[in-house]
Amino acid sequence: MGVLVTGGCGFIGHHFVRACREAHPGGDLVVLDKLTYAADPDRIEGLAHLVVGDVADAAAVGAAFDRLGRVDAIVHLAAESHVDRSIAEPAPFVRTNVLGTQTLLSVAQARGVGLFLHVSTDEVYGSIAVGSPPAVESSPFAPRSPYSASKVGGEALVAAAFHTYALPTVIARPTNTFGTGQFPEKLLPVLVRAALSGAPLPLYGDGLHERDWLHVSELVSALLLLLDRAEPGTVWNVAGTGPRSNRSVAEAVCAALNLPHSRIGSVADRPGHDRRYHIDGSRLRRLGFSAVRGIEGELPGLIAETRPA
Ligand SMILES: NC(=O)c1ccc[n+]([C@@H]2O[C@H](COP(=O)([O-])OP(=O)(O)OC[C@H]3O[C@@H](n4cnc5c(N)ncnc54)[C@H](O)[C@@H]3O)[C@@H](O)[C@H]2O)c1
Repeated sequence: MGVLVTGGCGFIGHHFVRACREAHPGGDLVVLDKLTYAADPDRIEGLAHLVVGDVADAAAVGAAFDRLGRVDAIVHLAAESHVDRSIAEPAPFVRTNVLGTQTLLSVAQARGVGLFLHVSTDEVYGSIAVGSPPAVESSPFAPRSPYSASKVGGEALVAAAFHTYALPTVIARPTNTFGTGQFPEKLLPVLVRAALSGAPLPLYGDGLHERDWLHVSELVSALLLLLDRAEPGTVWNVAGTGPRSNRSVAEAVCAALNLPHSRIGSVADRPGHDRRYHIDGSRLRRLGFSAVRGIEGELPGLIAETRPA
């Protein structure tokens, strides 16, 4: 089994590499990663061969293909992934998430691939009001940040490659993912870090924005399941344990550290901030996947990795 993982030195990527190595001990695993600020190559040391390069550079993608010889699967995780950075500077998001995806598709089409598994996001559906049904895979795109708009662009090109060139593609749309090894700019590490340092736990606006949370180990299991079972041309929501407010997440961090809720503070809201994400995960549930790992149970591990030694 020859697998190319893009973005394998990032948060989800390195967990995927570890799980894939366990699932296919004799397999050939190559990571293509540009090593941006979000990457840590030490995490995949001894688990995969690393090609340092940009997914938007056809020569770099070609070098990764050369290293594998036969590419049974591509798992495309490389992306600019942080919404706040996309608001400050959208261009790198378009370059990596749109042009990078097209470059990877073009090389895959020219060289051949067994399956192209593209990792998108539930943010492509935009904000889902309380009382509205959760988004299903056929719900319309309604992106509202440069990040989610660039992810729509990328996955639209993936769908186009399936329909136009019969490239065997599968699209996964996971919700907010958490776990150890996440870059400290994301909400949960920000809250844990603030709690440990004595600073107020910063929430955007009223803190009542809702996210569904999915543990990274469960996401990588879902991706392995899709590699194994999904038919080309299909799209899959990957839901977590259900939407909850950011305030309730901050309260869980306080509870885990015996801190009063008065430690929770507020900062000016993010422009265009999506109020709520909610996806229907029943399609993937019918394939045997369900997420059960909630934030509370994982907090001791997240706190331990953040606490100064
Ligand atoms: N983290 C989440 O909550 C979440 C939820 C849903 C979907 N996703 C998607 O999952 C994927 C992985 O997310 P993550 O949280 O692990 O991201 P991350 O930011 O932690 O890691 C991204 C990785 O991609 C690499 N990369 C960035 N630009 C590149 C380029 N041009 N060429 C090659 N490599 C490049 C980085 O160096 C890094 O190793 C992304 O596509 C993201 O949109 C993430």
